[in-house]
Amino acid sequence: MKYYSTEGRSPAVSLREAVLTGLAPDRGLYMPERIPRLPEAFFREMPAMSFTEVAARVAEAFFGEDVPAEDLHRIVSDTLSFDCPAVPVTDRIASLELFHGPTLAFKDVGARFMARLLAWSLGGTLSGGKTVDVLVATSGDTGSAVANGFLGVEGCRVFVLYPKGRVTPVQECQFTTLGQNITALEIDGSFDDCQALVKAAFLDADLRGRMCLTSANSINVARFLPQAFYYFWGYAQMARRGMADRLVVCVPSGNFGNLCAALFAARTGLPVHRFIAANNRNDVFLEYLRTGIYTPRQSVTTLANAMDVGAPSNFARILDLYGGDWERIRADISGFRTDDPEILSTIRDCLSAHGYLLDPHGACAFRALSAGLQEGETGLFCETAHPAKFPDTVARALGRADAVPVPERLQAFMAGRKQSVPLPAQFDAFKAYLLSRAGA
Ligand SMILES: Cc1ncc(COP(=O)(O)O)c(C=O)c1O
Repeated sequence: MKYYSTEGRSPAVSLREAVLTGLAPDRGLYMPERIPRLPEAFFREMPAMSFTEVAARVAEAFFGEDVPAEDLHRIVSDTLSFDCPAVPVTDRIASLELFHGPTLAFKDVGARFMARLLAWSLGGTLSGGKTVDVLVATSGDTGSAVANGFLGVEGCRVFVLYPKGRVTPVQECQFTTLGQNITALEIDGSFDDCQALVKAAFLDADLRGRMCLTSANSINVARFLPQAFYYFWGYAQMARRGMADRLVVCVPSGNFGNLCAALFAARTGLPVHRFIAANNRNDVFLEYLRTGIYTPRQSVTTLANAMDVGAPSNFARILDLYGGDWERIRADISGFRTDDPEILSTIRDCLSAHGYLLDPHGACAFRALSAGLQEGETGLFCETAHPAKFPDTVARALGRADAVPVPERLQAFMAGRKQSVPLPAQFDAFKAYLLSRAGA
C-alpha cells in the first residue's frame, strides 16, 4: 500500500517511509491510497470474536500488504495487552474505556503499535543502522503513551516536547521520570508551539541530514490508524447487547486523530450511524461545521487540557477523506462544545445519577451524547483517560479531595524523579539542542 500526502505535492511513499518520516516533505499528512472495504461477514462474526482477533483482521486490511501476517499478528497482540471494555453508563449509553493500558489513556494503543511497527521497520534496511529519533509534542497524554510505548526499544530515542505548566503533575511525571532512551523537553509556550517546533524540525534540511527523525504524534499513520481497532471492538460489544442498530459514536477531540481513526473504521464498512465530535472551548471544528469556514486560532486553557488545540492537525485528513465536501462532513459528523463549568457539573451529575466517574475529556463526550442522542439511537463515547489522571478537576467537581483512588501503576510513576530540559519556544534553541544530541 502506498501513502500519499494530503498536500499532494510530494510523491506517494511506502508504509515504512510514511512511518519513519511522519510528515510528508510538503507538510502534508500521509493517507493510505485505498481504504479497504471489509466483508459483511466480518461484521456479522465480530461479536463472537476476541479483541485481538478483531484488531488483527483490521490490521491485515490496512497493513497486510506490507507486513507479513505472522509479524503483524505479533505486533497486534503485543499492543493489545489490555482490554477496552464498553461499560454501560445509562440504558442507552456506554463508555468505551480506553484507559486500561500502561499510561491509563487511549494513546497507549496507537503508541504501542507504532513502537512495535517502527522496531519491525528497523529490522529492515531503511534506517541504515542509524538511531531513529522520535519527536513528539504533547498536550498531556501523548507524551506518556509514546514514551512508555518506546521505553527500552532498541535503536529509538524519544524527545517529548511539552508546554511548561500546562500539563498536570501526574501527566508530567509519566514522561519525565523514565530516563533510558526518553528525554523530556519543557517548552516555555503552548501545545501549539510544541507542535510547530516538531513540524519545523522535520522541514529543516540540516537536521534531517544529521538525524533520522520521525514523529509519533497522531499525524503518524502508524499511530492514528491502529486507533480504529477499538471502534470495531466497541461496536462488537454493543452488538452483543443488541445496542448497535443506530449507534452514535462520540469522540472527545483535540487534534482529531482519534475521530479520524473512527471515520476510517466507518469507511471500511463499520456500520456506525453517525459521529459526534465533542470539543471544549477550543471549538474551531464546531465552527467549521456551522459555517463551512475553518479558522485555526490560539488554543485556550480548559479543564479538559488534552483537547486544548486551536489548530487540529488531523483536520487536513478529515477534509481529504471527504474531498473537502462540507455538506458530506456535516452529514456524518455533528459537533458539540462543553465549557469548564459544564465539565464539572457533568462529572458530578453522572456520578450521582449513574454511579459512573468520568474524566474531564470523557465528560465532554458524555454530555455531547446525552444532549444529542435522538429517538432510536444508542451511544458509545470514548472515555479517553482514567479520571485519576485529573485528580484536581475531579475533586473540584465532586467537592472532595479523596474522590478517585489512584491506580497502582500511576502511583509508581509519581514516585520517580523528574528530569527535563527547559527550552524557550524558539526553533533555533530547539535545533541547537537536537544537534548537540545528534552524534550522541
Ligand atoms: C485524554 C484525552 N482525550 C482526548 C484527546 C483528544 O484526542 P485527539 O487529539 O486524537 O483528538 C486527547 C489527546 O491528547 C487526550 O489525551
